[in-house]
Amino acid sequence: MLDLETILQDFLILDQSVNGRRLVYLDNAATTQKPLAVMLTSRHYYEAVNANIHRGTHKLARTATEAFEKARQTVATHLNAASADEVVFTSGTTAGINLVSSSLARSGRISPGDEVLISALEHHSNIVPWQMLCQQTGANLKIIPCHEDGTLDREAFRGLLASGRVKILALTWISNAFGTVNPVVEMTHAAHHAGALVLIDAAQAIAHLPTDVQAIGADFLVFSGHKLYSTTGSGVLWGRESLLQELPPWQGGGEMISEVTFEKTTYNDPPFKFEAGTPNIEGAIALGAAIDYVNDIGLPAIHEHEMTLIRRAAEVLGDIPGIRFYGPADRSGSLSFNIEGAHHFDLGTLMDQMGVAVRTGHHCCQPLMSRFGITGTVRASFALYNTQADVDALADVTRKAVDMLR
Ligand code: ALA
Repeated sequence: MLDLETILQDFLILDQSVNGRRLVYLDNAATTQKPLAVMLTSRHYYEAVNANIHRGTHKLARTATEAFEKARQTVATHLNAASADEVVFTSGTTAGINLVSSSLARSGRISPGDEVLISALEHHSNIVPWQMLCQQTGANLKIIPCHEDGTLDREAFRGLLASGRVKILALTWISNAFGTVNPVVEMTHAAHHAGALVLIDAAQAIAHLPTDVQAIGADFLVFSGHKLYSTTGSGVLWGRESLLQELPPWQGGGEMISEVTFEKTTYNDPPFKFEAGTPNIEGAIALGAAIDYVNDIGLPAIHEHEMTLIRRAAEVLGDIPGIRFYGPADRSGSLSFNIEGAHHFDLGTLMDQMGVAVRTGHHCCQPLMSRFGITGTVRASFALYNTQADVDALADVTRKAVDMLR
């Protein structure tokens, strides 16, 4: 059981009204709110520490560098990485995927006719970078289809791997649109067996499940700080050290070099090889604070709490006539639905007028929406600070909005 009374005191933003009603924030899959501990860490950094890192010899530069590298270690420990050198700070999930796809495209590892495998559940950020890689290399993009319940078709997956041409599987762990939890350990194992690398998009999973990169066994894993109760513009690419050593850098600039002459440049070791330019120093340090915050509460307890809420939400919404949920019953994080006779956008607009914030539309998953013949859904997504009262408010305003629209 989470101590929600204490937790809610950490999230000042939630203590406000929208259109005269208590704000009920259920758009956590888009971004989470930030606890006081994270905001105070950011404030302290700018009030007392701010300096560039890895460059200066002065006191502030040393303190900033130590705090940045401590945050890297915090991330490494949280992910159970073999070493902090496997943790590359990025601006977010999208940057992490683009880093890997761009680097792979130039690595010589991908030839015309090779295959890149993604799934029907992917967010645009785990589709478009791979389309770009395919354009550059002559590789082909292949899609693992999903069933009506929003789970992946594992038989089709095995069939696609059998081509022997798949060079990388890029797979979301938890679907941002439907909340489907993919069996990443099993699928990683199968992809490796077929000779493919594996990238896991943990943008959603990172806030809901403990993440052990060694247990998953993948080659890359990416996530964003802002979906883990930290600030926007920070993120992480975890990569297997041997691969980070082998792959060419993504962007060139300061920090990622060992030596530069006008004739030739030699590169720094990972992770610095992939961190060109001044990084989001405050963002990395704040992310370390967010990870400490979450671990003080405990991800297993957070997960259990969110699962109770999401199951209850499906139950109380379930008897609205004409409602259809997407994704399997054991979904995590997000609950997506449509209601006959009420457009998702209109529903979301009316719900907002009654103080409940949800996301509507395609959730940056247009191919998935097409697969189901819809333009979008209403999505309620949950975080550690949501309560039973939030679920009751969701059910209440959804019913009222439907009555107004029908
Ligand atoms: N990927 C974010 C979402 O699902 C923005 O809403």
